[in-house]
Amino acid sequence: MTATVVVGAQWGDEGKAKIIDHLADHADVIVRYQGGCNAGHTVVHEGQTYKFHLIPSGVLYADKTCVIGSGTVILPTVFAEELKTLQAHGISDAGLKVSQRAHLTLPFHLDIDKAKEAARGDKSIGTTLRGIGPTMEDKVGRAGLRVGDLFADEAWLRDRVAHLADMKNPVLTKVYNLPAIEPEALFETCLDYRRLFQPYVCDTEALLAEALRQGQHLLMEGAQGSMLDLDHGTYPYVTSSNPVSGGACAGGGVPPTALARIIGVTKAYTTRVGGGPYPTELFDEAGRHLADVGHEFGTTTGRARRCGWFDAVALRYAAQVNGFTELALTKLDVLSGLQKVALCTAYRHKTSGERVVQFPAQIGMLDVLEPVLEWFEGWPEDISGCRSVDELPEAARRFVSALSQHCGVPVGIISVGQDRRATICAVPAIGSQNQLSGLTSS
Ligand code: GDP
Ligand code: IMO
Ligand code: MG
Repeated sequence: MTATVVVGAQWGDEGKAKIIDHLADHADVIVRYQGGCNAGHTVVHEGQTYKFHLIPSGVLYADKTCVIGSGTVILPTVFAEELKTLQAHGISDAGLKVSQRAHLTLPFHLDIDKAKEAARGDKSIGTTLRGIGPTMEDKVGRAGLRVGDLFADEAWLRDRVAHLADMKNPVLTKVYNLPAIEPEALFETCLDYRRLFQPYVCDTEALLAEALRQGQHLLMEGAQGSMLDLDHGTYPYVTSSNPVSGGACAGGGVPPTALARIIGVTKAYTTRVGGGPYPTELFDEAGRHLADVGHEFGTTTGRARRCGWFDAVALRYAAQVNGFTELALTKLDVLSGLQKVALCTAYRHKTSGERVVQFPAQIGMLDVLEPVLEWFEGWPEDISGCRSVDELPEAARRFVSALSQHCGVPVGIISVGQDRRATICAVPAIGSQNQLSGLTSS
């Protein structure tokens, strides 16, 4: 009984969907375990680009089961749009399952997200405005509505909605100056949602337990990234869930003993979208190269992503928290054409010069630290056609090898382009041994 977890090792948008799509062929069930439609996951296959927000990126494989797990939050309108997109592309949703325990993002959650961001002023988090934080607040506050609630007895559901309105209306009207929830209107909306979810809802914990019992392989798809994790990221500039590998168990309802492989997906540089500290951020020509060549614009919001050098301090910390068994290194092709490329190997205190190798818990500390950079010769070649480590230019191999050494994690997969095929596979199939020699950390 095994599961592979694919986790963002940085601040999101690392190319998790591309790696999921690459690995899904060898999996039976693909599970989104946290987050919601704040995620924007892009898969490119045979010239066609697919963007997913809620539905697992493995859905392109017709014979797979795809689960939207208990730890996720679902905005029904986005779910409905994604179903339409699948239909338009002729992709089957026959294997799609939605957890009864997943929470619903309701219209007022979107209003609150917007109002809170406005109130934060210059301290705004730069959320995706998809209602994620407010939905999770209601979940933790034990006031939220779950997908399974839609299927309860109508009297029970009406009562539950009325209770929710009683709890939320004083906050909505008095704190945020927003319209009150009309309980009967929300109840009717819930009946629409019931029809929407009817074909997909199930007890996903039972489904996943049975899949594991039968020896099937689960692929757990993380959203966001470790540095956006509510507990372990750059708080408060984080998302309201746990993208880290432990979140796959809590959110998916899968036992930790099932996890066999934990893949940290990382770009060969870094990006961040929204506010918050970013030690290796670049404001120069190299930063513009990364943004332009890497097409660094958000899949969900279209916002320009901030760009910077690879940060091995943050990555080592992510590896500590996640227990990465390997890295999937994406967008190595984007570095082609830079004369010199850098890795941040440590931070240095701006005044005392003290060297810092552990990512600080307190983000204020990051203001007084600067990155220590190790420089490498770049490579001019277009590497997007490379399909083996040997085909990579010597300079690129040296860079990957040093990156792996500084992170203390072997590199199992190297991605050199958007397309499914633009992948150098050091580990050919789930469950096989790491065959990448010479690029490992030891
Ligand atoms: P995710 O949220 O982690 O799934 O990542 P996104 O889909 O938001 O952003 C990653 C972007 O980089 C997408 O447009 C991918 O198609 C693209 N991408 C992924 N891997 C590679 C790669 O190796 N090279 C290039 N050039 N693009 C890549
Ligand atoms: P994927 O899965 C990058 C960021 C937002 C903001 C912070 C909180 O595509 O990697 P939220 O709406 O979650 O309350 O916003 O988190 N953020 C992401 N950044 N990729 C994502 O998802 C993100 N999801 C949220 O920009 O800074
Ligand atoms: Mg994304």
